[in-house]
Amino acid sequence: MNKIRISTNCEKKDFQKLLLGLSKKTLEDFTYFENITKNNVKKIIVSELKEQKKLRFFIFIDNELIAYSFLAKFPRKTKTHVCTYGIVIGDKWQGKGFGYEICKHMINVAWKKKFEKIWLTAYYDNKSAVKIYQKLGFEIEGIFINEEKICGKPRHVVSMGLFRNNKTIKKTRQKILDTLN
Ligand SMILES: CC(C)(COP(=O)(O)OP(=O)(O)OC[C@H]1O[C@@H](n2cnc3c(N)ncnc32)[C@H](O)[C@@H]1OP(=O)(O)O)[C@@H](O)C(=O)NCCC(=O)NCCS
Repeated sequence: MNKIRISTNCEKKDFQKLLLGLSKKTLEDFTYFENITKNNVKKIIVSELKEQKKLRFFIFIDNELIAYSFLAKFPRKTKTHVCTYGIVIGDKWQGKGFGYEICKHMINVAWKKKFEKIWLTAYYDNKSAVKIYQKLGFEIEGIFINEEKICGKPRHVVSMGLFRNNKTIKKTRQKILDTLN
């Protein structure tokens, strides 16, 4: 397997090439930037690189940028212990185990930065994403029916969480469910 290099920086032209090269299918699973076109890509990149509350990861093989991911802090004081998470891998590099490897690295960074929980959402039918998140220990915290519409079609969303200390999570969740029923 090729060896990846993870950097916190990247040339704008490489970032642009990665984003413009994403297929329709990938953009339907990674809707974070919504529609990426030649006309809006520069604006997307400037705004993304300006974002202060984010740890960015640019993943290279040799000198080619193959993926982008991030951990983002919440602005609210009550949520400073939680970060969110995003990842997109260029199409030709998907399905080769890099997603798992990159996510492992991001999780290590999150715990080093003293976050206590990583929260993310994925479309319910994004099989490879849900599979790697479960393999990494993320638990399903909620299922949101018809949460989003992609090209007019409703799509369900799965909310998942990973806890630095997960010892009491299952019990706590069950207790809450019991009180609600
Ligand atoms: C989702 C994504 C990050 C996964 O990374 P990846 O490098 O492609 O995935 P990996 O190769 O590390 O692992 C994929 C796993 O899913 C499994 N998988 C892939 N397609 C699957 C399917 N249709 N059904 C079941 N499992 C599937 C693979 O077998 C593999 O599991 P294994 O290691 O047990 O064999 C990457 O594909 C991507 O960037 N996709 C587009 C953007 C996106 O969806 N981002 C995430 C938004 S939440």
